[in-house]
Amino acid sequence: MDYQNTAKLYHGDCLEFLQSIPSSSVDAVITDPPYSINTKSDGSGKLNPWADRVNAAFWYREWMSQARRILKPTGCLWSFLNWRSMVTFQKAADDIGWPIESLLIWDKTFPGVGSMKGLRACYEMVALWANDNFAIPDRGLMDIQRFKWATTKPTGHPAEKPVALIEWLIGICTKPGDVVVDLFAGSGTTAEACIKSGRNFIGSEIDPNWFSYAARRIDAAQAQLSLF
Ligand SMILES: C[S@@+](CC[C@H](N)C(=O)[O-])C[C@H]1O[C@@H](n2cnc3c(N)ncnc32)[C@H](O)[C@@H]1O
Repeated sequence: MDYQNTAKLYHGDCLEFLQSIPSSSVDAVITDPPYSINTKSDGSGKLNPWADRVNAAFWYREWMSQARRILKPTGCLWSFLNWRSMVTFQKAADDIGWPIESLLIWDKTFPGVGSMKGLRACYEMVALWANDNFAIPDRGLMDIQRFKWATTKPTGHPAEKPVALIEWLIGICTKPGDVVVDLFAGSGTTAEACIKSGRNFIGSEIDPNWFSYAARRIDAAQAQLSLF
């Protein structure tokens, strides 16, 4: 498949989208899945939180093993997570025999809502899975990085991530012209970061409203690029 100058978004389920992608054809998967557990800080609404986590791990296992299939031997997967979803990721990773290689702490330098009784949350995490021939070229990079963030999100997507952080991730593990996939595109942050940094992008988003939003964002980023 020729991905030159590509920025394509598929409207639908990521597992269907993944079926259309050939094995060993992609340089990086950078994604931000739903945590698939009730993350309300008061814990309400949970029938059995452990069952929720185990069920979610079965689904994570599916898309993670497909992500591994489409990656080149030099490729890697980065996925956002928080401490509540960590155990789900850990189970899925153990089930498919693909251990977490690194765990980046994203310091938001901003106190989020957090627990009703505990500490204010000011970090999230991004886990790295590496295929056999992958290595980050800069061996000096550290696993705590600051990207300032605030409650008011530019696109209004409740789980939006900063373009600067995604650009940084893209920059440390791929080169211009490479192919980056985002299975859970949301408002299209990874797509915009790819266009800005000269990477090809393909992704999927299931929600029709966010799909349309991300598609418009892709058009705007490409139009902005063509001005220069
Ligand atoms: C955590 S958000 C991603 C936010 C994104 N990083 C951003 O900056 O806007 C996860 C997204 O995955 C989408 N989603 C959930 N299940 C999906 C599935 N099975 N296939 C594709 N997208 C899915 C949701 O609609 C949601 O927009």
